[in-house]
Amino acid sequence: MRAKRTSLVHLIYFSRLNLSSDPQLRASQLGDITRQAQKKNEFAVITSFLIIEQNFAAQVIEGERMSIQETFNRIAEDQRHRDVQICEWREIAKREFVHSFKTGIRNSATETLFNKASLLPQLQRGTPKAGVIHSLAIGLQADAMSKQGIDHLFI
Ligand SMILES: Cc1cc2nc3c(=O)[nH]c(=O)nc-3n(C[C@H](O)[C@H](O)[C@H](O)COP(=O)(O)O)c2cc1C
Repeated sequence: MRAKRTSLVHLIYFSRLNLSSDPQLRASQLGDITRQAQKKNEFAVITSFLIIEQNFAAQVIEGERMSIQETFNRIAEDQRHRDVQICEWREIAKREFVHSFKTGIRNSATETLFNKASLLPQLQRGTPKAGVIHSLAIGLQADAMSKQGIDHLFI
């Protein structure tokens, strides 16, 4: 018999990034965040997807309830973003994200998905829907995986 799983939740939040306007500096700041988050999330068995759209961040983090709470408390205090607001926090039946920390940004390859989701105007109004963030993150993950030829493993 399979062992009973501990309670699994996902938390979806959005925020405004306090990153440099200089592209090189911004890339290195995002690199720092990625390194720290990847390491911590691997240790805490958290899977996540961070969407970056202009100066907004929107992230789905999933894992065991206590780990998510501890991680979110740390994220919310990080000075590299502000106005951190939770959109949704609920129990989930299974994980939907594969990586400990993955980022999706708007570029020529992902533009169609970003445009279809139309998240930016919602972020600008301060009222993004959790479902819109979630489905864009799922779409970006699926797109990245199919480009790597590994999508068939996750059907
Ligand atoms: C937009 C954004 C997303 C982040 N995502 C995560 C994350 O998923 N997991 C995590 O541990 N830290 C994340 N961080 C970094 C944390 O805020 C924090 O800096 C890091 O966990 C190290 O914490 P410590 O310095 O207190 O050890 C994120 C930071 C930002 C700005």
